[in-house]
Formats: sequence, C-alpha cells, structure tokens
Amino acid sequence: MAEEVFVSPRKAGRIAVFLSGRGSNFRAIHDAILEGKICASVALVFSNVETAPGLLAARERGLETLYLNPKLFPDREGYDKEAVRQVRKRDVDLVCLAGYMRILTPYFCREFKHHCLNIHPALLPSFPGLHVQQKAIDWGVKFSGATVHFVSEDVDMGPIVIQAAVPVLQDDTEHSLADRILVEEHRIYPEAVRLFFDGRLEVRGRRVFIREA
Ligand code: GRF
Repeated sequence: MAEEVFVSPRKAGRIAVFLSGRGSNFRAIHDAILEGKICASVALVFSNVETAPGLLAARERGLETLYLNPKLFPDREGYDKEAVRQVRKRDVDLVCLAGYMRILTPYFCREFKHHCLNIHPALLPSFPGLHVQQKAIDWGVKFSGATVHFVSEDVDMGPIVIQAAVPVLQDDTEHSLADRILVEEHRIYPEAVRLFFDGRLEVRGRRVFIREA
C-alpha cells in the first residue's frame, strides 16, 4: 500500500486554541501572530474550564472564546462532537492544544488528523502523560525538553514536528525544570504553527519533514 503523505496548506489559516489553564503557550502563539511571524489568525479559544486564566487572557485580547461545560454531556464523545461542531462552524484549519487537560476521543483525533498539534513538556516518546518534569528528574535523565507533535489517537504519540532539549541540572526541582522547558515551549510552538501555515510540514507515516522555504 502506498504511504499516505500529508502536506500542510500554505495559507492565511484559522486557528482554534484549546486550553484548560494559564494559557502561556496560547499567548506565545498569539504574540507571534501579532508580530507578523505567523500567517494566521486565532478564530476561537476553547476551554473545558470556565475559570481558566487563558480564557480570560483571550477575552482581554478581543478574541472569541467558548467554554463548554463537560457536565452537560452524557459522555466524552458527546462533548467532543459538540467541540468539533463549534470548531468546524468557524472554518478552522488547525487546532492547537495548549495545556488542554482532557483526553481527546478517537472521534476528535480522526476529525482533525494532521490538523491538530499539541505541546508536551518532555522529549517524547519518553515521559508521556502528566507530572513529566518530576518523572524526568526521578528517572535521572540528563536532558529533557519540549515536543510539538501532531495529535493521533494514542495520547502523546503522534508524529513529532519539533523538539528542543533542556539539560536537567543536579539541583533542579519540578518547578525549576518546568520553567526552563517552558521557555523552549514558547519558542518551538509558534515556530511549528508558522511552518504549518507556510506549507512546509510534510508528514510521511511517523516522520515529519520540514520542506525548504
Ligand atoms: C505546558 O507545559 C504544556 O507543555 C503542557 O501543559 C502546559 C500548559 O501551560 N501540555 P500553559 O497553559 O500553556 O501555560
């Protein structure tokens, strides 16, 4: 069977950011858009947490926000179906997960295959899941870092777009390591989104190639 190849579109795209917390990665992406570094606009900032500081920041920036209460839905699939409907309604090209603390259903992942990115604060495939900075320290690795990857049905396991390594220092705490990784997150997530809308990401199986400009 021929290998499936995806090439990201070269266009002024529309982004939906999904977040559940402070939203610093959302702000980094939006700042890069405002600075003219990414040819895109934020069409929606979506959250499952009504009080997420990231939602507030989005409102202050004049962006459209939507909070969807998980308790109003019988199951996760019902929730994700409505989330997909809301995103589609706004003609979105790319969903950026930025600290979105809900596991997406296979339905959502299929709907946005090759059109959904996530940022993870470790060098995947090491340390998927939660509390990964502490896990990296406890394991004794000398480097950890950040990963931007396409979202697939297996949590934290989709094709890797960009990684940045960060040394783990002897006196690191979970927080000091997280802070150092976050600096890299804010650099590589906007960069990945920029490459996406410059039409430069080519996905072949598990591998993502960055095309020449
Ligand atoms: C980041 O560390 C990101 O890698 C992880 O969740 C955190 C979100 O931080 N997925 P913020 O809300 O973007 O500040």
